[in-house]
Amino acid sequence: MKVEDVKNVTVIGFGVMGTGIAQVFAQAGYNVVARDVSEDYLKRGLEIIKNGPFGLYKAVEKGRLKKEEADAALARIKITTSLDEAAKDADVVVEAIFENLDLKKQLFKDLDEKCPEHTVLASNTSTLSITALGGATKRPDRVVGMHFFNPVPVMKLVEVIKGIASSDETVQLIKDLSVKLGKTPVVVKDVPGFIANRLALPYLAEAMRAYEQGIASAEDIDTAMKLGYNMPMGPLELLDLIGLDTTLDVLESIYRETNDPKYAPPVILKQMVRAGWTGRKSGRGFYDYTKK
Ligand SMILES: NC(=O)c1ccc[n+]([C@@H]2O[C@H](COP(=O)([O-])OP(=O)(O)OC[C@H]3O[C@@H](n4cnc5c(N)ncnc54)[C@H](O)[C@@H]3O)[C@@H](O)[C@H]2O)c1
Repeated sequence: MKVEDVKNVTVIGFGVMGTGIAQVFAQAGYNVVARDVSEDYLKRGLEIIKNGPFGLYKAVEKGRLKKEEADAALARIKITTSLDEAAKDADVVVEAIFENLDLKKQLFKDLDEKCPEHTVLASNTSTLSITALGGATKRPDRVVGMHFFNPVPVMKLVEVIKGIASSDETVQLIKDLSVKLGKTPVVVKDVPGFIANRLALPYLAEAMRAYEQGIASAEDIDTAMKLGYNMPMGPLELLDLIGLDTTLDVLESIYRETNDPKYAPPVILKQMVRAGWTGRKSGRGFYDYTKK
């Protein structure tokens, strides 16, 4: 399949990443079907796409998008809880469910059975093995990583992950599709954390350890990195944006694979997740968003 043949894109998992991914595909003119496990999650997701901080009507307010373009993009997004419905006409599926290998493998197996023969199955996983996801299907040549960055409507990078059995044609298709979305693809081997997380996570984990040890306040840690290193966001603000539960899953997954203590999840992270403080999405993380 060539990029010109792609018309229908399915996004599975309509959370922080899935909503952004659905939005950028719809803005680029693709028909999008989004699937999550409940109507409530799907409605919440549509609200994020409409009025969230990086949503369509925020872009209209800022003069970056015309109202008619926002309306048209929104009209291209359909929502469903049915996997059959989501799978049946998909040219490309982008999976963005929880960072859990068993869940993703089951989903890829189901998608393989329900999608047309030509469908390419892409995962937005941050760390998990694309090769393992391919191995759960009978089409490992058409399984690939398409790793977006948060917030998806803003961040330009897409890591394209080539599993051991991913074909060159599939990798090229996802590179071309990324360009159609206005993104810049980089091709990376299927190793834990790929390249961007491999480099960023030891930094983020160290920031959490510094906070845990009382070396500086959250605000001062973030200010140090913003003003000292020109980072657009401090590490703790960034962690709240990414989601602390997702960060814990990602660190555990890389640590399990590599046994490298750089990736060992800090105790503070585990405790905050246990308390339900998952960052912006729950209203509380390193900062309290209920007061802002
Ligand atoms: N948050 C980030 O900054 C970030 C960045 C890059 C990649 N990722 C990756 O993207 C994926 C999703 O992360 P997120 O932050 O959007 O998580 P999230 O918790 O915000 O959203 C996940 C969504 O998937 C849904 N879901 C779970 N199982 C499902 C299933 N079987 N079918 C349909 N929907 C299902 C959940 O209901 C939830 O709405 C993970 O693999 C994560 O590692 C996250």
